[in-house]
Amino acid sequence: MLIRNICLPDGRRGQDLLVRDGRIAAIAPALPAPEGMEIIDGQGQLLSPPFVDAHFHMDATLSYGLPRVNQSGTLLEGIALWGELKPLLTQEALIERALAYCDWAVAKGLLAIRSHVDVCDPRLLAVEALLHVRERVKPYLDLQLVAFPQDGVLRSPGALDNLKRALDMGVDVVGGIPHFERTMADGTASVKLLCELAAERGLRVDMHCDESDDPLSRHVETLASETQRLGLQGRVTGSHLTSMHSMDNYYVSKLIPLMAEAGLHAVANPLINISLQGRHDTYPRRRGMTRVPELLAAGINVGFGHDCVMDPWYSLGSGDMLEVASMGLHVAQMTSQAGMRSCFDAVTVNNARILGLDGYGIEVGRSADFVLLQAGDAVEALRLRAARLLVVRRGQVLSRTPPATARLCLPGRPAAELDWRLAH
Ligand code: FE2
Repeated sequence: MLIRNICLPDGRRGQDLLVRDGRIAAIAPALPAPEGMEIIDGQGQLLSPPFVDAHFHMDATLSYGLPRVNQSGTLLEGIALWGELKPLLTQEALIERALAYCDWAVAKGLLAIRSHVDVCDPRLLAVEALLHVRERVKPYLDLQLVAFPQDGVLRSPGALDNLKRALDMGVDVVGGIPHFERTMADGTASVKLLCELAAERGLRVDMHCDESDDPLSRHVETLASETQRLGLQGRVTGSHLTSMHSMDNYYVSKLIPLMAEAGLHAVANPLINISLQGRHDTYPRRRGMTRVPELLAAGINVGFGHDCVMDPWYSLGSGDMLEVASMGLHVAQMTSQAGMRSCFDAVTVNNARILGLDGYGIEVGRSADFVLLQAGDAVEALRLRAARLLVVRRGQVLSRTPPATARLCLPGRPAAELDWRLAH
């Protein structure tokens, strides 16, 4: 396959990209076309590495309305509702919903997902189901699983044993939820215990950490210090970190450098944070998302996750990481050109680093994994939630979407195709 006339995320324009044997064989202007090769006109559009989601819950996805909808819309009712749903889950239904979501993801150019899987049900139904799904989707999507003790690894009887069993079965990453343990002390103990477990087994860590509006929820501090103590730098992620939104600035001025020193990754989940946080406020009502620009400025790798799609916590979503990034840039007020490009990075390269994906990116010699977007650059892709014209993995086209267009038939004017771009 030879794709002519594309632009790249680093700003290079008018490039051709040659794919051979599933790899990127060349990138340059006006490449010669080898005999018999399929040629695609890129029409000057952006060719991006695929979207990556660093934080998702595939065991809950597409279960909206089962057994009822979340009336209050709060995190805690969501957790209670998930508790009602769990006994009703079957492996077949879990697999069916997860596979359906992966189809949506591929169509949106989302080709790698880190999903938490609840390990508090001793049957480990969801773990078995998602391990099966991980294998089923392997030819077209990288699914990484996190052993997530939703009800608290210390608070929920048997959760630690279940979590270890899930890891024995092949789950990739150690999860946790320190702010949901009974006390601050238990939360701290859970972080230590889980980081030690990860260090023993040579695994990465990704904890739901301080998903709270309580400025005194400071488990991320322990997560950073344990990361350092155990030599886990670059392998540990703090997800949500919403309490940082409400923390005192003086304390944050100490905390962020500690996180940077520990090489911690941070994940914000903009759609969910803006929906779930601040629910106990009157007005002014807090946004609740963690301090994304400040974390980035300190050199911390920040990714954005989708977190939920049509489940007990969130009734919307479609696997569109451009929607996630767009919400992130609005909530964080990252509206400068550089800020918007950072938000595009937060759903591509930054998330790839969090997952530890090998060979990610548009470079010669790497796997031919990419998405051709109907946009001239990353900012336009965000503005238009650009159509994913072509989704390619290992050189194989997985999905095509026709360009978004409209035919205007306005009185007194000739009918014409609408161009969404700024006229220059
Ligand atoms: Fe989550």
